[in-house]
Amino acid sequence: MTNNLLEKQLKRAAEILARSKYAIVFTGAGVSTESGIPDFRGPQGLWKRVDPEKFTISYFISNPDEVWELFVNYLMISSDVKPNPAHKAIAELEALGIVKSVITQNVDGLHQRAGSRKVIELHGNLRYAVCINCGNRISLEEAIKLFEKKNSAPRCPKCGGLLKPDVVFFGEPLPQGALKAAFEEARKADVVLVVGSSLVVTPAAYVPMIAKENGAKLIIVNLEETAMDHLADVVIRGRAGEILPKIVERVKTLL
Ligand code: APR
Repeated sequence: MTNNLLEKQLKRAAEILARSKYAIVFTGAGVSTESGIPDFRGPQGLWKRVDPEKFTISYFISNPDEVWELFVNYLMISSDVKPNPAHKAIAELEALGIVKSVITQNVDGLHQRAGSRKVIELHGNLRYAVCINCGNRISLEEAIKLFEKKNSAPRCPKCGGLLKPDVVFFGEPLPQGALKAAFEEARKADVVLVVGSSLVVTPAAYVPMIAKENGAKLIIVNLEETAMDHLADVVIRGRAGEILPKIVERVKTLL
């Protein structure tokens, strides 16, 4: 992308955000790759190395030990990760009163650690494990200790049922409260900033769709083409960790 084209797009995105009344941010795995967590469908995506079939709820129930093993390996990547400049820039837009909420498909909790306060997690999070029998939750650290003790899927201390990382597996419904809150935010938004998502997974991807259908301006920052580029008011091809701080810099000159 040429410099003056990039400059024009950064300025346009900053103007839209500075003028907004109710901007929301929608993020996917691409906002966390610069923190060291792989995305799913990018060139080094997780689905190129692990069969997504293994993250369906039916596969988990019939092969819990194997899937827990996969999770613990994946978790090993993400145990010492930190928020990157993209997460911090998004938190700063909230502190400036521009971004009203962050709706994320990610389960890494990095938005909260970067200082974002209103975060809606559509696909759960890696803080807990939940019993698929009685719904009891324990911390994920405790569940991993139980896994490592017997090298098999941990069991609920209350009812002995199977514990599952508290993230949404393929074939599982999304947490209804989170989804409802996200759709409400989308209806209220006059700007939606999408960062680091291929926008191919529903119902999460309905969030920017609903906002756009309600007249919101759509800004997309992504390394590759997304499923909604053709609907966007601004598309910026680049690394979120580089682009977002540049947008925030320009927004500040307009406030
Ligand atoms: N900056 C900007 N964009 C990036 C960066 C980066 N540093 N790194 C990767 N990307 C882009 C990739 O090009 C890709 O288009 O982010 C996008 C990530 O898309 P996916 O890997 O499909 O991730 P996501 O959209 O979050 O997937 C949605 O699918 O597998 C399920 O539950 C999982 O929540 C996930 C959902």
